[in-house]
Amino acid sequence: SSDLKGRSAPVGDASKVGWPTFHHAMLSARTAPCGTSDAPLPLIIDSDPGLDDALAIACAVVRPELNLLAVTSVGGNADVHHCTENALRLLHLYGADDVPVAEGAVGPLAGPLERATEVHGEGGLGKTVLPKSPRVADRDGAVALMARLLDGSPVPVALAPIGPLTNIALLIRSFPHLAPKISHICLMGGSVGEGNSSASAEFNIYADPTAAEIMFASGLPITMIGLDVTHHAILDRTILDRLKLLPGASAKVAAELLKFSFDRSAAWGQGEKMAIHDAVAVLHLALPDLVGVARYHVVVDATQGPARGRTIGDANPYRLKRDNLEPNCDVGLTIDSARFADLMVDVFAKLP
Ligand code: BDR
Ligand code: CA
Repeated sequence: SSDLKGRSAPVGDASKVGWPTFHHAMLSARTAPCGTSDAPLPLIIDSDPGLDDALAIACAVVRPELNLLAVTSVGGNADVHHCTENALRLLHLYGADDVPVAEGAVGPLAGPLERATEVHGEGGLGKTVLPKSPRVADRDGAVALMARLLDGSPVPVALAPIGPLTNIALLIRSFPHLAPKISHICLMGGSVGEGNSSASAEFNIYADPTAAEIMFASGLPITMIGLDVTHHAILDRTILDRLKLLPGASAKVAAELLKFSFDRSAAWGQGEKMAIHDAVAVLHLALPDLVGVARYHVVVDATQGPARGRTIGDANPYRLKRDNLEPNCDVGLTIDSARFADLMVDVFAKLP
């Protein structure tokens, strides 16, 4: 939607928010863990960088409540080789060359390859070419690296998939004995309401519905940060003036990535703004009260029909009881939009 005026609301204000359904699910206590600066949450990001992925990774590097163990790549916004290279170069830019990177799946478990290069540029980062990283990706690949880190961690690790869920499904299917080592999956993807790739489906789910189906059916604790909430995590041109005041190269790159997106969005007649989808999933693991959630039962349409990739979310107590269904995830519904913009500026103020 190009006019989001009046749809943003403080966390919990159900009367003002654009609730995605007739049945207003009650906001409930989050089930996702939240790191603190004293006990940072161990986290693996699985990503297809990606303009908003770039900003999300920055959040994970900076926030003291998070301990970023790795970034794994997946084909999505751009070709997976670009995504891997982008992850390496972004971490280098952010001064985080100690965070391992590994390359994952080229494309979905089944079905055609979907890309979002019209949104993110052919290489995934608009027209920006970042300086090379001195490192290469871990040779074992994304799923093996995730398994190794989970296995070796003394405490369970949170996963933040912010691209198609192919690697996550492969991890679940290949290493079922590591399930207890996953504290939570906080994904950016899906929507109880409208989609973006199609009217039904959000891109990350649309790009690999089979993988998403495997994840939602896994019984693992999940938070779905979908378009219902990320469409309220919007930055507009005013952010550029704030980023310009910051001294670091990272802030300059962020401004460049955002400008690419604003220009493109304006050219499409959608206004000069951008939803920073992926950052919301990462920040939810760092801040206990940024996002408001409700419990939903979510299933995925993996058929070839017009609803392919749709996440069907039900929070209606009558239907759930009738159909003997339990909620299987938290769904993000509200966000403090003004605070979100301030948080993004703060992240880039702290990066080199
Ligand atoms: C999601 O799709 C991608 O294009 C973005 O990076 C984000 O993860 C939004 O639908
Ligand atoms: Ca992404």
